[in-house]
Order: sequence, then C-alpha cells, then structure tokens
Amino acid sequence: MSDATPPDAELMLISNSAETTRAIGRQLAAGLRAGDVVLLHGDLGAGKTTFAQGVADGLGVRDPVHSPTFTLVHEHPYGDGERTLRHLDLYRLRGPDDLRGFDYDEHVAPEDGVTLVEWPERAGALLPERYLVVAFEPAGGDRRRLRFAANAPAADAARWFAALRQET
Ligand SMILES: Nc1ncnc2c1ncn2[C@@H]1O[C@H](COP(=O)(O)OP(=O)(O)OP(=O)(O)O)[C@@H](O)[C@H]1O
Ligand SMILES: [Mg+2]
Repeated sequence: MSDATPPDAELMLISNSAETTRAIGRQLAAGLRAGDVVLLHGDLGAGKTTFAQGVADGLGVRDPVHSPTFTLVHEHPYGDGERTLRHLDLYRLRGPDDLRGFDYDEHVAPEDGVTLVEWPERAGALLPERYLVVAFEPAGGDRRRLRFAANAPAADAARWFAALRQET
C-alpha cells in the first residue's frame, strides 16, 4: 500500500461463517459503482469466491457464481443487462507473461461494471491504479479475518467503507 493511503482507508471485519462472508460481500456491493475493482487476496479456500458470491448477489446478478477455473474470467450481467460483473481468477497464471494475449484492459476495470480479481498477485504490475483490496486470513475453524484497504481517492474509499460499516 502506498504511503498516501489515508489512515481511515483500512477496515478489519471478522466472519464466523461462509454465510457471513457472503453477507459482507452483499454489503460492499451497495457501495460499489461501475468501474470499481476489488482484488481478493488469500490462500486456497480462504473465502474469496464465497465473498464474490455475496457481491454478485448484492449487485443483482442472477446466475450462479463459481471460481472461473478453466477460463480467466466469467462475465455476469446485472442491472437489467446493462452492466457486467467480471470475475477473474488468475490462479493458473505463473506470472504476468501468461497474460500475453489476454486483453487485460478489456477485462479489468472497464467502465460498464464491477471487476473482482482472485489471485491478483499473479498479474504482477498489470493491476489497475485504483482498487479496493480484501485480504482473507484464516482465524481458526470457520473464522476468517477480512482486511479491507483502499488504494484509491478518499471519496472512493469513503463510499466503500461506509457500505461495509452499515449494520445489517
Ligand atoms: N467464514 C468463512 N468465510 C468464507 N468461507 C468459509 C468460511 N467458513 C468456512 N468457509 C468455507 O471455506 C470455503 C471457501 O472456499 P472459496 O471457494 O470461497 O475459497 P477461495 O478463497 O475462493 O479459494 P480458491 O483460491 O481455491 O479459489 C468454502 O467451502 C466455505 O464454505
Ligand atoms: Mg476461488
């Protein structure tokens, strides 16, 4: 995270179940706008796809959301079909070189929808400049620590964190 990150641009939430992780994703969706990118960091089984399911549900995506294992990106329409949720899983990439031939700009952060990226570290420097990052950390059993950090202008961070702080 850059030194410019304001101190109020970080938030930590604890989830005790997969359903709670989905609910937090749903909450975040209320604060997302087309063009936003959310990077999902964490080990295998940490809860990234589970969280993505909540975001998708909150945006109004109707089709089921699974990890896009055999393709790099799944596209899900929402907002009366005028918006597209892009769900990327870069796990199978060994490094940014594998993204040659993949039109990254076309798939990440287009203005017509929200983009979620699992295993974003595989893309190296090919990441967008403005994003929310969520780190999923195991905290014993079904507990997960979700650490949110905004790498974005303060107004974007405020919008994301206000949604996450809403009581459900
Ligand atoms: N608090 C929790 N939050 C999220 N998932 C949980 C939680 N507790 C248990 N789980 C379970 O952990 C698993 C998380 O799987 P998920 O596919 O979301 O992980 P992932 O981070 O996307 O992994 P991968 O890197 O393999 O794609 C699911 O089986 C889910 O039911
Ligand atoms: Mg996954």
